[in-house]
Amino acid sequence: MSKIKLSMPNLGDARSRKQKETPTFSYKLNNEYKNIGYGKTYHIFTYGCQGNEADSEVIAGILEDLGYVKAAEPYAADVVILNTCAIRENAENRIWGVLGNLKGVKAQRPNILIGICGCMPQEENATNKLMSSYPFVDLIFGTHNIYDLPKLLNEAYHKDAKVIEVISTEGAIYEGAPKHRESNYKAWVNIMFGCDEFCTYCIVPYTRGKERSRAKEDIIAEVKDLVAKGYQEVTLLGQNVNAYGKDLGSDYTFGDLLYDLDKTGIKRIRYTTSHPRDLDLKTIYAMRDCPSVMPHLHLPVQSGDNHILKKMNRKYTCEEYLAKIATLKKEVPGISITTDIIVGFPNETEEEFANTLKLVDEVKFEGAFTFIYSKREGTPAAKMEDLVSDEVKHERLDRLNELVDKYYLAGNKRFEGQVVKVLVDGVSKNNPDNLCGYSEHLKLVHFPSKDMSLVGKIVNVKITEGKTWFALGELVE
Ligand code: 5AD
Ligand code: SF4
Repeated sequence: MSKIKLSMPNLGDARSRKQKETPTFSYKLNNEYKNIGYGKTYHIFTYGCQGNEADSEVIAGILEDLGYVKAAEPYAADVVILNTCAIRENAENRIWGVLGNLKGVKAQRPNILIGICGCMPQEENATNKLMSSYPFVDLIFGTHNIYDLPKLLNEAYHKDAKVIEVISTEGAIYEGAPKHRESNYKAWVNIMFGCDEFCTYCIVPYTRGKERSRAKEDIIAEVKDLVAKGYQEVTLLGQNVNAYGKDLGSDYTFGDLLYDLDKTGIKRIRYTTSHPRDLDLKTIYAMRDCPSVMPHLHLPVQSGDNHILKKMNRKYTCEEYLAKIATLKKEVPGISITTDIIVGFPNETEEEFANTLKLVDEVKFEGAFTFIYSKREGTPAAKMEDLVSDEVKHERLDRLNELVDKYYLAGNKRFEGQVVKVLVDGVSKNNPDNLCGYSEHLKLVHFPSKDMSLVGKIVNVKITEGKTWFALGELVE
């Protein structure tokens, strides 16, 4: 198959931050492409963070606008799209594995159109590999071209060639694109895109472009619309939500946005992800003052050692982090705090790792995503010397997880005997006699009930037993 190489990614360009202002466009479907999906089905495989889940809802919305309907079976679809993640090597390996399966599907059904999007195509290496080793992929596009999907699909149908369009721009904002939301009671709401932090291990600032905030009016209008449609919960999304508004050059900050969104009537507001350096007092006060802002914060610390934090370019010290935790615990009594931690950063010593364990003991995180450092080509950390063996890294991860689990359990146990409010998600995976959902503190709660009318509602549950990964309870009036 020949290639239409419209545009290829470049990590050097992706690093540049020259563009002063962010252009905002209104999404409009070109009449030329209307109905190209008529009579056809689609399936989207989504990997990675909530940002990708939100993007997949836009992709689904655009596809449905073109006439496609969701396929009953993933591999029976006419269009299969993989929305990919590049954050760690094992995330990418999973995707290479799925592509292996799709090769067989394509051999049996040559008319199926296979597309890849998300963060992986933004990496030069991954796109080169896709082009050389996966010739059955028809369409490759990046995080900045979702809104061009109708045009790209049209190209893929009409030209007998692979369509590759991955641009490394700093990014724009699109308003008004259709969305097919997965849930009718909780919603993702993007408040900003991109990241300007350049933590030395992280590929995201290259794959997602520069920090750019949506106008507050657009965000507030979206949340009001969700309230009118009966939504109970929104999760505000951004790689670093605490930097909201900085690129707009106004004094209006993330804390201001929380106060304003609290007035919309939405029952629950969550947000992710926060950067400890940018988390400010106004945000903490908003968590204290606004009943809708939930008493849970995910505040990635990454390491409990100042030397490693410096090498990571995190721009805060452990002491500064701990001071913010102390303020949070004082202003928002009972707050639940979770985090992300990387072990085995290049040349991490036993002592540096022990400092991370010490910090976990001090903060008593009620949950943590823990990762072994994964080298990402093109990032500054990829060039750092790393003499720590894989065996040591795995052993450190095990020790860390053991400690983290202890506090997970304590975080669930502390609610025993209390009545908590749970937004019901559906039937528990492990027990068909139970329903499950999340409490205000983001605790997963299971309780006996078969009443499916409770799904999407907030109910009172008395916690009877805290376990490591969830809590058991009983419905109360
Ligand atoms: N290796 C391991 N973990 C990483 N993360 C980001 N980049 C890497 C990497 N190269 C982790 C960080 C971040 C989370 C989303 O993923 O902990 O907070
Ligand atoms: Fe990656 Fe750091 Fe940006 Fe988070 S803040 S997305 S870890 S560069």
